[in-house]
Amino acid sequence: MTQELTSPSPAPRAPETDRGSRWWRDAVIYQVYVRSFADSDGDGIGDLRGVRERLPYLRDLGVDAVWLTPFYESPQADGGYDVADYRAVDPLFGTLQDADILLRTAHDLGLRVIVDIVPNHTSDRHPWFQDPELARQRYVFRPGKGPSGELPPNDWESVFGGPAWTRTDRGDWYLHLFAPEQPDLNWDDPEVHAEFEAIMRFWLDLGVDGFRIDVAHGMIKAPGLPDIGHGRQAQLIGTQVLPFFDQDGVHAIHRTWRRLLDGYGEAHGKQVIGVAEAWAPTPERLALYVRPDELHQAFNFQFLNAPWQAGALRAVIDASIAATASVGAPTTWVLSNHDVVRHTTRLGGGLDRARAATLLMLALPGSAYLYQGEELGLPEVTDLPDEVRQDPAFFRGRRPAPAADAPAADAADTSGQDGFRDGCRVPLPWSGERPPYGFGSGGSWLPQPADWRALTVAAQTGDPASTLELYRTALSLRRRLPGLGDGPMTWVSAPDGVLAFHRPGLLCTVNTLDRDLAFPAPGTPLLASTPVTVNDGSAVLPGDSCTWWAI
Ligand code: NOJ
Repeated sequence: MTQELTSPSPAPRAPETDRGSRWWRDAVIYQVYVRSFADSDGDGIGDLRGVRERLPYLRDLGVDAVWLTPFYESPQADGGYDVADYRAVDPLFGTLQDADILLRTAHDLGLRVIVDIVPNHTSDRHPWFQDPELARQRYVFRPGKGPSGELPPNDWESVFGGPAWTRTDRGDWYLHLFAPEQPDLNWDDPEVHAEFEAIMRFWLDLGVDGFRIDVAHGMIKAPGLPDIGHGRQAQLIGTQVLPFFDQDGVHAIHRTWRRLLDGYGEAHGKQVIGVAEAWAPTPERLALYVRPDELHQAFNFQFLNAPWQAGALRAVIDASIAATASVGAPTTWVLSNHDVVRHTTRLGGGLDRARAATLLMLALPGSAYLYQGEELGLPEVTDLPDEVRQDPAFFRGRRPAPAADAPAADAADTSGQDGFRDGCRVPLPWSGERPPYGFGSGGSWLPQPADWRALTVAAQTGDPASTLELYRTALSLRRRLPGLGDGPMTWVSAPDGVLAFHRPGLLCTVNTLDRDLAFPAPGTPLLASTPVTVNDGSAVLPGDSCTWWAI
């Protein structure tokens, strides 16, 4: 007999008092890349009103919170991660009032909202950098080397390629670990600390529920700014402590912010969080960012970078859970974001593998981040013409450039992707037969493929075989079944290539091989990424599939 998968009805949201307790420990948080989500004014660029109008879609999808990428005033040299005014909304994306209405609407719908904060660097148009005297206190300036200071102060390379230093017309050099338009701040200056605390309070007062901290491993540099001694440094990020990344000094900053967040939360009867975008060489070093007096979550990029191979996945899952458990924190799983190749493409196994990876992620203990469009099974767009590109890494000539601050080697994989970041930022298809597929009325800032008709939200809604309905069902079950989310997991022995683990009341099986495998049916299939066949107590697990079983 083949078990039919049934679609559970949406679970009611538990009252705030239940769900509000340490909510981040198992929250599913949806990343909105604002520029590419929904365009309300027809300029081809997504905006805050577009996000607000589509919030019911996210509520119905079943996520707990939304993370908005930077929408602050910015020259957009790096997709808004070059902030000129941290308290203003860029007119491209709307107004402060739009942000306010968005927050209120989200809260009315039971969704929390996290915003990005970018403390490692500002835009070169920030007023501090525009004032030459002030700039020399608040940023990292050094004299050059060589007889007339014509050589950079050290051998550091920018994550986007080329030297990490640019010479000014006064003859000295300033540090930028990213684009030259993103000068690094000097965190030895107390005014820098005070300013970021004030910025956080500003957004907390507007109602945000937390911050995603950009380059949370970056603010503190090794004393004396020592040379590294060789090139291709971007390949070492996330594999070693470097003099510019993952220095122990960053933790003092995170402790201060945790006190601020806790204090604010206590005063306002809510729990506001910080999530670290930190590239650390080991799960143990990453766990330092989520010690009880530091941040609440840290993206698990080691899971994101793991190959689709049972042994490698199990090793990274075990190491991550052990490391975070040792400091009493949850693990924060993620498969895609705006800096990496979409997992439909990156894992090299198309939609089947991507759907299986997602069900695996959602069955693991802890919280999870989804990146807009993964619920539609969007692939990476790999054939964007050079003239439409916007990723500064493309113009700085790093090829391939993976995540902005991920090791370059990790993105150089199998699937024909070019390694730059525009291909995962193509605007979402909502409805209709052709571009811009309901994204807006005025085209889209990056061209959408001509064959995305079947991938739109409208086309997938109500189709039980669609990826969108798979995500909806998975999130609904996750909300309803107490065994999912935070809590214990236990591995069960399984054939080579298969992962099997218990959560209370559930078994999750993942066949990472590309062929069917027989497996004793452990119970009733609740949800499967590819339909599973059960016959007289024996199951056939399709290749590249994940199944949740009720036991
Ligand atoms: C990480 C962000 O996710 C990425 O998009 C950005 O380019 C860098 N940090 C620099 O801010």
